[in-house]
Amino acid sequence: MNNARNRIANSDLFQKVEKIPRSIKEDRYACTTIIDPGLVWLDGKGSRIIVLDKGQRRSLIDSSAGVSTKNLGYGNERIKKVIRQVLLKQKDVFGYPHHDMENDYALDLAWVLSELTPIKAEREVVFANSGTEGIEATIKLCCNARAKSSGQSRRRKDFIACYGAFHGRTLGALSLTCSKPVQRENYPVNAFTNYHIHFPAKHPFFVYDDWGDIQYVDYTPNEYIEEVKRACRKGKIDIDSVNAVVFELIQGEGGVNVASREALQDLVGFFKSHGIYIVIDEIQTGLGRTGKLFAFEHFNIDPDVVVLSKSLAHGFPFSAVIYDSKLGWTEKGQQSSTFSGSPLGSAIALEVLSQLLSQNLPQRAYDLGERVLGPALRTMAQDYSEVIHNVRGMGLMHGIEFWNPHTRKPARLFRNEVILQARKRGVLFLDAGISAIRITPPLTIDSNGEGQHKRGNELGAIIDVLTESIRATRRKMKRIQ
Ligand SMILES: Cc1ncc(COP(=O)(O)O)c(C=O)c1O
Repeated sequence: MNNARNRIANSDLFQKVEKIPRSIKEDRYACTTIIDPGLVWLDGKGSRIIVLDKGQRRSLIDSSAGVSTKNLGYGNERIKKVIRQVLLKQKDVFGYPHHDMENDYALDLAWVLSELTPIKAEREVVFANSGTEGIEATIKLCCNARAKSSGQSRRRKDFIACYGAFHGRTLGALSLTCSKPVQRENYPVNAFTNYHIHFPAKHPFFVYDDWGDIQYVDYTPNEYIEEVKRACRKGKIDIDSVNAVVFELIQGEGGVNVASREALQDLVGFFKSHGIYIVIDEIQTGLGRTGKLFAFEHFNIDPDVVVLSKSLAHGFPFSAVIYDSKLGWTEKGQQSSTFSGSPLGSAIALEVLSQLLSQNLPQRAYDLGERVLGPALRTMAQDYSEVIHNVRGMGLMHGIEFWNPHTRKPARLFRNEVILQARKRGVLFLDAGISAIRITPPLTIDSNGEGQHKRGNELGAIIDVLTESIRATRRKMKRIQ
């Protein structure tokens, strides 16, 4: 150890580290979630990401927009300018924890977000540093709101979320997450009493249940609410103890499952009639992706709390919780974090919101989803009905789920091979759920805006490469699995 410290002092450690092969660092020293160690991130521009792919420099279209963080695309010049300006302005106090001191960027952003979020009540905003921390702050907000209330409301301590939901990995958020067994196994997921109900999807889909078994869900809209009411009658859910219910309206990680407007409204109406807070996790769906600034605007519901992260600060670790101010904290120190509401994150978020609105990007996402991506994927589903279960999505957030229609089982290996084939052909796809692929490109993606797609434009290329990759996988795999 002392030797190592001396070497740092002599700075020869940095020369040494460069000489250690990347694969050794990856295998021996770093715990990462990297699936493919052959791929190394270098740079990006627009919808393209530049990578080293097994040592070779390549430019790939990133159909996931950096897991939905780059709604404005890579290398956005105005964001780079804002970053430079904030760093210069901060002079030597860069990185100073700002949570005990006001900074104008955070105050301006709180005002802008509360103006833009169509919760009917008066709004207030609290900042955090990541999606999961935004969810943690939300859980605490709801707990505190109950603690300062009286009567039955005060006793409400439990939370409800959906199967297939992803709300984060810290222990409170993980108690709500129920997407993949590996994310929960071996961890305490009872930070509070929590129930999972079926996500009120408007289409059939595959999902893991409490035991990690795969279920096929194919409900009519009213079956969701009936199931919840039955669970309450049978005492499986103690509805009088429920504090809040948390929904993603399009489950991203869970498989791009889209809520049915009717089923969702029934559930929200039922929970509200019991005095339960409605929380909407817009961490992935938020900020224009679905064709509106907030996905919940499609569903005519009035949430109490909305959580944003990912694209809010263009991938800079940052999140914001916007809530009915009646729920809000009353004492200083009840909620805080060293870096939350950082000047840099807040300034980037202000720039992101300004570009989204001035360029009308939510409408563009809506148009491209309705006119190009959705129709093309539905045609693909018809053409390859022997492997595609269904297509679902809104705006520039679509998913395509693979299955074997004969066994009626999800085709996970087939999906994985499609992703590999697509990468060879120049497009990065991200998986979702058990056997789906998600398509969430930057809202600025190059497109000729028509159903006719040619390789000349990037959205068209995503569609073409997906088709070719399904065809190639079909040729390669004898059995669909
Ligand atoms: C809907 C949703 N909620 C919460 C999270 C957690 O965010 P983070 O990874 O920043 O903690 C994610 C991340 O993928 C997400 O998609």
